[in-house]
This record gives sequence, C-alpha cells and structure tokens, in this order.
Amino acid sequence: MLSEALLVSAPGKVILHGEHAVVHGKVALAVALNLRTFLRLQPHSNGQVCLNLPNIGIKRAWDVARLQLQDTSFLGQGDASAPPAELAEKLKEAVGLPEDCADPERAAVLTFLYLYLCICRKQRALPSLDITVWSKLPPGAGLGSSAAYSVCMAAALLTACEGIPNPLQDGKSTGRWTVEDLELINKWAFQGERMIHGNPSGVDNAVSTWGGALRYQQGKISPLKRPPALKILLTNTKVPRSTKALVAGVRSRLLKELIDMNQHHLNALGVGHALLDQLCHVTRAHGLHSKLTGAGGGGCGITLLRPDLEPPEVEAVKQALRNCGFDCWETSIGAPGISVHAPASLDAAVRQALGGL
Ligand code: MEV
Repeated sequence: MLSEALLVSAPGKVILHGEHAVVHGKVALAVALNLRTFLRLQPHSNGQVCLNLPNIGIKRAWDVARLQLQDTSFLGQGDASAPPAELAEKLKEAVGLPEDCADPERAAVLTFLYLYLCICRKQRALPSLDITVWSKLPPGAGLGSSAAYSVCMAAALLTACEGIPNPLQDGKSTGRWTVEDLELINKWAFQGERMIHGNPSGVDNAVSTWGGALRYQQGKISPLKRPPALKILLTNTKVPRSTKALVAGVRSRLLKELIDMNQHHLNALGVGHALLDQLCHVTRAHGLHSKLTGAGGGGCGITLLRPDLEPPEVEAVKQALRNCGFDCWETSIGAPGISVHAPASLDAAVRQALGGL
C-alpha cells in the first residue's frame, strides 16, 4: 500500500461527431480538452475513508472497519454483472447512504464507494484514505466531467492498491501509465460511469484515459496518430440537463422508429435546446459553424475556429455569445490523458483546491 500522497489528473472531452449514435454502435470522434479534473489521494491510519469534493462543498467519511464487515459480493469483479441501477440500490443499502443525499453528490459518492470497495477489497484490509477531487470542468455540461472523475478515481485507487505501478519517476513532473495499465484504468472507469449514467457508450472515459483524439466504436478505441490541430470555441449555455435521461429518451425514440432523423439529426433526436439553436444562429451570423456536444439538451456547444480567423473576429463572436448570457472559452484539443503529477508541478490554484500541498 502506498505511503505518500498521490496526485492524478484527467481531461474532459468534446465529441466532434457521433454523440448518441455512439450509444447505438456507430462511430464517434472525440477529443480531450485542456480542462482537467485533479485528484489527491492521501493514505493514513485513522480508520476512516474520506471523500472531499470542494466544488460542491461535500465532505463524507466512512468507518473502514464497518465497510469491511459488509457483504459486498453483489459487486462482482467489475464485469458489469448486474444492471447499474440494481447495484446502486444494493450499495446504498450496504453503506447506509442517507435519503437526503441527492444528485450530483449521490452519483459521486456511489461511484467512489463502488470503485473503492471493488478495487481495494483485493487488499488484506480496506485502506484508510483521504481523497479530494477538484475540477476545472463545469459539471453536467456535456464535457465529460463524470468520466474524468471516474478515470481519476480508478487510476488513483488502482495505484494505491498496487493494481498498477506509480509511473512517476524521481525528478520528473509528470508520469503516464503503459497501454496495459491504461486499459485497466479505463475498464474500471467505465464501471464507474455506469453507476452514474446507467448505459454509457464508454467514449467519455476512453478519451479521458487516453487523451488526444480518438475514434470510438463499440468499445474499440483507435487513437488518431496525427490529431487535427483544431481550435474550438466552447460555449456553455448553462442549461442544466441529465445525460442519463437524454440517452434514455433517444433509446425510446429509436424503438419507435423515428423517421425524420436525417433532418437536423440531433434536434430530431430530441436532444436540442432553444439556446443551442440560438448559439448556432449567433455564430452563423459571424460565418462560423456550431453544434451541440455531448448529450445535448442544454450544456455546451462547440464552434470550429478556422485557422484563417483573425483574433478580433474571434473576440467579436465571443462577445456576441456572452451578450446572450453564455460562458465561452477558446480552447485547444488533444490534451494528454490520465497523468500522475509531482506536487510542485501543479499550479498554485490547483494545489490550494486540493487542500494545500
Ligand atoms: C457522451 O458524452 C454523450 C452520449 O453520446 C452518451 C454516451 O456516449 O454515453 C450522449
């Protein structure tokens, strides 16, 4: 068992093409964003396992000895044996999660406990740990914040419990895992995502694990060797939405054989939003093309910034979007996947958010 603090980070994502279709076996093209989630794992010996989520003001602690006594055989071996809703119910009962624990805390806590109990029970005794997760990604906006959370959690717990080695070498600021280890991280992160989303395609955790740009179809991950050097403008409509509900809505429409799907595909799938249409209108007036990204229903849209655009043109469209009440960031894509960091290599804001390092 690890004795020192471990720091890991994983990126969010945007889907350039194929959201929703990917859940039904089609190809998606996804890229990692340079907005990341950071996790600090501190082993200790106070008999507790603690989860701190400063973004949503949550601090929860469990008695390790009590968790150790629970029968958790229903969790299986991370092989998706039972439907996630059933697992979540049984887990809630086993750990005595209070009824007042609502989303997003509920999803974050259940995912953590699921991964902790599955990964760490291979140890002689469940370890006493303090885990803090802090993110630059807006939650529930289609940018893969839950996947980045699951990827960080899986990587940190596997490393702490010696399921995979710590790849940070002495004197280096960052370390990355081998392909074999990334596959294990991704497998567990997908199980974590199932606890949150029910029936995800797995594209979000794949791009957060591997980073860069990748083609994803039915679990097959094909990293692009030369990712396009695209710059995009990322705009948050700030309309809250639930990926789980939107994915379920598309599934039920597909079962009813919707026929007008080839016209404005995603709108026809019922995952558009008036404010996403407004975003497209505003950028079109500046000669730029936009689409929703992720599950839709609100959340974020992306606008392709052509290389020939001059900075004042980009500024003008950003101002027009802000005038609509949206947040937007110019961002580059293809950020590195899950990584481990030396504390001194992280910027001061991240170190402070993780409880001071
Ligand atoms: C993923 O960010 C968005 C959806 O494609 C769902 C999924 O792939 O699991 C809508």
